[in-house]
Amino acid sequence: MAQPTHSHHETISQLTKAFAFPIAAYDGLVDQFIKELDEGLRVEDAMPMIPTFVYELPTGQEKNKILSLDLGGTNLRVCRTTLAGNGEFDIVHKKWTISDELKKGPGKGLFAWIADRIEEFLSTSCQNDHLEDTYPLGMTFSFPCEQLDINVGKLINWTKGFRGLDVVGHDVVKILQDCIDAKGLKITVNSLINDTVGTLLATTYKHPGCEIGIIFGTGTNCAYLEDQANITKIKPTAANFKSPTNQQLINTEWGAFGNKSGALPTNDYDRRLDQKSSQPGNQLYEKMVSGLYVSELTRIVIHDLAHSGELFAGTAKTAKTDQELGDLAIKERLDGAMMGAFEGDTSANLDVIDQHFKSHYNLDTSLGDRETIKHICQLISARAARLSAVGIAALIKKRELLAKPKKIIVGIDGSLFNKYPNFRQHLEGALNEIFDAATVKAKISLIHAEDGSGVGGAIAAYLACKQLHKI
Ligand code: BGC
Repeated sequence: MAQPTHSHHETISQLTKAFAFPIAAYDGLVDQFIKELDEGLRVEDAMPMIPTFVYELPTGQEKNKILSLDLGGTNLRVCRTTLAGNGEFDIVHKKWTISDELKKGPGKGLFAWIADRIEEFLSTSCQNDHLEDTYPLGMTFSFPCEQLDINVGKLINWTKGFRGLDVVGHDVVKILQDCIDAKGLKITVNSLINDTVGTLLATTYKHPGCEIGIIFGTGTNCAYLEDQANITKIKPTAANFKSPTNQQLINTEWGAFGNKSGALPTNDYDRRLDQKSSQPGNQLYEKMVSGLYVSELTRIVIHDLAHSGELFAGTAKTAKTDQELGDLAIKERLDGAMMGAFEGDTSANLDVIDQHFKSHYNLDTSLGDRETIKHICQLISARAARLSAVGIAALIKKRELLAKPKKIIVGIDGSLFNKYPNFRQHLEGALNEIFDAATVKAKISLIHAEDGSGVGGAIAAYLACKQLHKI
């Protein structure tokens, strides 16, 4: 990463140290990651490693028209997917941003709002579909749930800033079904999956052989195919002990890596972000890797520098007050898309950054300020990409996938991976450093999962119908 020419050198070099993640640190962290993945398969109270009730992957030949919904960290989408076989599909969907009131208000209100949106989707986008029987719907829900069946899952805790405590510990499928029934809609929620499971299913539909599904978006997580015999925390008497395929998908909830071990190389900014978060001490890996948090880290750093008179200080070199900084002084008011726009600004004078700070915060920036801001984004996003590679490498090593003759297909979705400038390049660069470039090229294929959550939800609903012999 080149040092900017006009910016504040001392500041930059301190930040570079704080957010450094040296090559020498990879091996130890990958080993620790494998240890925590293994521990989660053996005992509760470790990385969640949640057994799902999905035992098989699609063949790509499935055909049907299916509804799904996708509740992520930022948006809700309701989708109608036509699975056409040969890995082909067509998807019609409608998307709504989830407001702060809904995220932070009671969970029951959020679910009632979702049922309203399903009704709206049916009346605007499915007028020509004849819903004579009760229609199956696959629910993709991007939060940790303890699954008790393919269509039963108790919310363990919210992540990504959601707060509806009234639904924690309750079955989210039942809550949604009750809201749907109250509206008299002919829909049965027949499956519940995590977005990473959806990503894995959707990638496998198009690219048979995929065994790993990952989200690098608002949050981060990973699902993969595990041998049933390795999941020793499932008691032999449990309903999901016997898998017809001897395998089952595991929702790792890897955002929890490092919570207990303290293995992550956190700095003072990370610790402050964690302390001010809705769940201090939780999701520590996610807090260094995913979109919601990398943009918040960036805001904290910029805010600090403005307070100490190192940014936006003008020729008079005056420090800014919170009142002058407006939204920049408020938690989570700088989002991942803005951060991506700063890092992606390649104009000579960094005009995008200039305009943004003027119009959003009424702040004038010098060229040095703008270079410093861009550099902060680069440092934080590059560290996130390197740590992301650590998770991928850990799973590949743990499953000994390099020893298998076939190419390793990793399905990945999420805004950070799909849209953030250079994230994918940094991630691939880090994989080259962990393994080596020739091995990565020959053996590892990172595939952007096309609409993992929406299509994956539809495939899960299809597989659930198949399990019940309804297809
Ligand atoms: C949630 C996961 C989810 C991930 C990506 C995390 O905050 O705990 O369940 O898969 O975000 O959306």
